[in-house]
Amino acid sequence: MTSPVLSLEGLRRVLPNGRELFGTVDLTLAPGEFVAILGESGVGKSTLLNVVGGLDIPQQGRVLIEGQDLAALDEDGRTLLRRDRIGFVFQAFHILPHLTLWQNVALPLVLQGRSGEARSSAEPLLEAVGLGGRGGERPSVLSGGELQRVAIARAIVHRPALILADEPTGNLDPATAEGVLALFRRVVAETGAAIMLVTHSRLAAATADRVLTLTPKGLADAIV
Ligand SMILES: Nc1ncnc2c1ncn2[C@@H]1O[C@H](COP(=O)(O)OP(=O)(O)OP(=O)(O)O)[C@@H](O)[C@H]1O
Ligand SMILES: [Mg+2]
Repeated sequence: MTSPVLSLEGLRRVLPNGRELFGTVDLTLAPGEFVAILGESGVGKSTLLNVVGGLDIPQQGRVLIEGQDLAALDEDGRTLLRRDRIGFVFQAFHILPHLTLWQNVALPLVLQGRSGEARSSAEPLLEAVGLGGRGGERPSVLSGGELQRVAIARAIVHRPALILADEPTGNLDPATAEGVLALFRRVVAETGAAIMLVTHSRLAAATADRVLTLTPKGLADAIV
């Protein structure tokens, strides 16, 4: 049996005011598995992704990425694991304004010391998200949906083991969203990455192998 890319065991996140965000979460993702997570606004989907990516600390439970317990790492260790093994599409994109589009996409490679292959890796991904030939532009001239697609390209450029995508089609029209979802599927098939994709979109959910709903009591099978 291949070991899971991601294991969440008894995860709990309690806010400073005592509010339990998402009950207790357990989840295992195998290589190549694509899970979509639905859930009401404010239930804690982005917080859950942050916990999985080591950007937020749970009060209880364990996050294991390729068998590595995040709690056994210090902050530098978590940063390195995130840099090398995770691709994150943030809900607010976090595209760096002073870099060009291709430099934004290539950032994970540059941080890994792979500058030599940065541009040649970034340009085809910009093409794949419909921004071919625009790598030299600055983010300030882009629409919201275009910025979102730069963020998606950046999340897959270093072939991460785990892709965490927070409403990655939220700003896209249906045809462009379909293209992005097909790209995610292709990445999963080619690299064996697992994807945890938060969405309100039925189209995105229909692309996944498994659809779950995050509720105040934890993850439940979604009826779609
Ligand atoms: N560190 C924190 N301190 C206080 N409150 C927090 C903290 N982190 C998250 N929250 C609160 O937790 C709740 C869940 O936030 P989160 O962003 O995870 O929701 P969400 O499910 O992603 O919602 P949406 O669908 O609107 O993006 C919000 O009410 C938020 O204010
Ligand atoms: Mg959110």
